[in-house]
Amino acid sequence: MKITLLGSLGHINGYVIPELVKQGHQVTVVSHSDKRKKEIEDLGAKAAIGSMQDVEFLTSAFNDADEIYLMISGANQDEDMIDSARQQSKIFKTAIINSGVKHVVDLSSVGADQGPEVGGLYIYHIIEDVLKELDDVTYTFIRPTGFYNNFLSKITDIKANHAIFENRPATSTSIFVDPKDIADSVLKALLNPAIENSVTYVASDIVTGNELVKYVSEKLNMPDLKWIEISDNEMQTRLEKVMPKSYAIAFTKMYSAEGTSKFYADFYNNEPKLGNVKMSDFMDIFANAYQNIKD
Ligand SMILES: NC(=O)c1ccc[n+]([C@@H]2O[C@H](COP(=O)([O-])OP(=O)(O)OC[C@H]3O[C@@H](n4cnc5c(N)ncnc54)[C@H](OP(=O)(O)O)[C@@H]3O)[C@@H](O)[C@H]2O)c1
Repeated sequence: MKITLLGSLGHINGYVIPELVKQGHQVTVVSHSDKRKKEIEDLGAKAAIGSMQDVEFLTSAFNDADEIYLMISGANQDEDMIDSARQQSKIFKTAIINSGVKHVVDLSSVGADQGPEVGGLYIYHIIEDVLKELDDVTYTFIRPTGFYNNFLSKITDIKANHAIFENRPATSTSIFVDPKDIADSVLKALLNPAIENSVTYVASDIVTGNELVKYVSEKLNMPDLKWIEISDNEMQTRLEKVMPKSYAIAFTKMYSAEGTSKFYADFYNNEPKLGNVKMSDFMDIFANAYQNIKD
């Protein structure tokens, strides 16, 4: 099959591209960086260099493809996140219609079934809604939970304060996923083009805040590590030090939503078999990053 992938040589495609090539498919990989061309070709794929925000470029990258894999990436933090998602969804829709593609695998997210109350994750709802408007096109929405790597952003606080600050209780649950496990789901969807529209959740491990503290404190030999529950306002203030206000608001809402029972309800109603990469495996990556990040 002819398959066009967004996501360049990112975490998920690092697993997806070699497997598709190995199975004999003609793979085109979209990157917005000329520097990736040779690396993509060395993997046995064709490079399409341009931006996913450029509808004409995207149409030509999708032309002739039996299937495409969509993901959103490269957010411009000077622009409103929701407006950008609306624009991107229209670009995807136009490029799909104009290229005549019939099968779409879209990397969405947990929370995409919900409304603006999930903050930054609402962008995935917007994209899914627009893709659903397409006639004669079958889609698979892959909805991963939070990536393990997101937790690396906690290293600075763990080092400085022996604390994980969250605007939700330590008894609440986090569901993590590894790119390798997402890649397995993406491959399954691409290799068996859907005849019906479907939604697939992907997750690797489920832990409470208290369990997460235990994993980290044991790995770092830091017995006084604690989870400190802070208010939404405190979370927003902390985030505003590292990102624009509109992003800080969106992330605060997202983190807070994760502490509600509604957040994972659809996930549990359609619960996937958990993937192979467990929190204990991620702890090796975490400990390595912890050692290498300066105080
Ligand atoms: N973090 C989470 O918890 C979470 C949860 C659910 C879903 N997701 C989704 O997962 C995605 C990340 O997947 P990943 O880790 O496999 O990807 P990744 O490693 O972040 O790689 C994505 C690649 O896309 C390319 N790119 C960026 N802007 C582009 C543009 N304007 N046009 C074309 N290509 C562009 C970049 O490569 P080049 O420089 O080569 O162009 C970038 O390295 C996120 O973007 C998000 O949508 C994340």
